[in-house]
Amino acid sequence: MPRIGRNIMEKPFRPGEARMLSLSDEDIQAAAEALIAGQLVAFPTETVYGLGADAFNSTALAKVFEAKGRPRFDPLIIHIADIHDMERVVDTGTLEPAMRKQVDAICYALWPGPLTIILPKVPAIPDLATAGLPTAAIRFPDHKAAQRLIRESTGAIAAPSANPFGYLSPTRAEHVREQLGNRVDFILDGGRTGIGVESTVIDFSSGPPRILRPGGMPRERIEAIIGPIELPGAEAPAPAGRAPLSPGLLNSHYAPRTPLTLHSQEEMSALPYRPSEAYLFFSGSVRTAWLQARGVIPPHPAYAQDTPNSSLVRALSEAGDLIEAAANLFDLLHELDRLPVSAIRAERAPDKGLGIAVNDRLSRAGRGGSA
Ligand code: TXA
Ligand code: MG
Repeated sequence: MPRIGRNIMEKPFRPGEARMLSLSDEDIQAAAEALIAGQLVAFPTETVYGLGADAFNSTALAKVFEAKGRPRFDPLIIHIADIHDMERVVDTGTLEPAMRKQVDAICYALWPGPLTIILPKVPAIPDLATAGLPTAAIRFPDHKAAQRLIRESTGAIAAPSANPFGYLSPTRAEHVREQLGNRVDFILDGGRTGIGVESTVIDFSSGPPRILRPGGMPRERIEAIIGPIELPGAEAPAPAGRAPLSPGLLNSHYAPRTPLTLHSQEEMSALPYRPSEAYLFFSGSVRTAWLQARGVIPPHPAYAQDTPNSSLVRALSEAGDLIEAAANLFDLLHELDRLPVSAIRAERAPDKGLGIAVNDRLSRAGRGGSA
């Protein structure tokens, strides 16, 4: 079954290509004015590129859903660049005092950063932004150009990841141009993003805090501030006909077009080498040992970094580092997805720190489907 992302890319939304902008003062100013005027601006954050629109403008928000081919039940994250703007988006007044304290503590300690918090919304935020939910997702990104763009526009910018719905998130301006170039007005080019996976989403709107999506902020760092929190995946699926709690939990998300299968290190090490497939190892050492065992490269340390067909056989991190692996994840998946291979085989990362987010995205990338 064809994926939604591909369908919408085959049908141009309107003529005209997005204008590429730099991070110069004039360009950020121009992008901010475009946002104020209700246009769409893709911009870098520390996690992935976002597809921005003024969070208070329903018409602009509608364009975001249209451009992404995103279902209206999937709410957007609202980005701020000043802690005082938080109250223009969410209302923490109804939270129990203990919860409110926790929210204050994590905002103070972890913002700006790759952490999105779900809180009761204020009426000024249109229902379209929150897909009709009484809550809004809010985040203060740790990226200077994004912060300036937000401050110089309306102070609250709704921005999902700048990819067609269901496809891999963009970590470079070129990814946005390739995927959505004829659907956005401007793309701010800030080079490759630093963290590489989307923000962690944590729900504080009712009951004990829960992580709805693991991401760039490791659970351990949040727990160091507020104590143990519920793990992702513990929630029950939404009843039929109702929106999922966090549509980031939809099975088919972050998916390349090439079928991807996820393997443990043991399984991966036992796979045969097929030139018709691409391989994504977690660490350089496991990849090299695998290539040597199959006679693809000689079994001598001098060849350790020498990987013929290296475009087909990759490692998320040469050193086996989780932060580097997360930063490379979508970038490498975009690269492998462009190759004429019939399958991508990926190795699970260790299940800790950013490895949780890496494994979450890899397992969703592997499920396929038509969400
Ligand atoms: O790092 C990121 O978070 C990037 C950059 C651009 O900031 N943005 C991003 O947005 O990943 P998006 O739209 O691709 O993912 C937002 C996630 C979705 O899973 C959405 O369902 C969830 O946040 N979400 C948004 N509002 C929500 C709400 N009120 N309740 C529960 N989940 C919500
Ligand atoms: Mg997304």
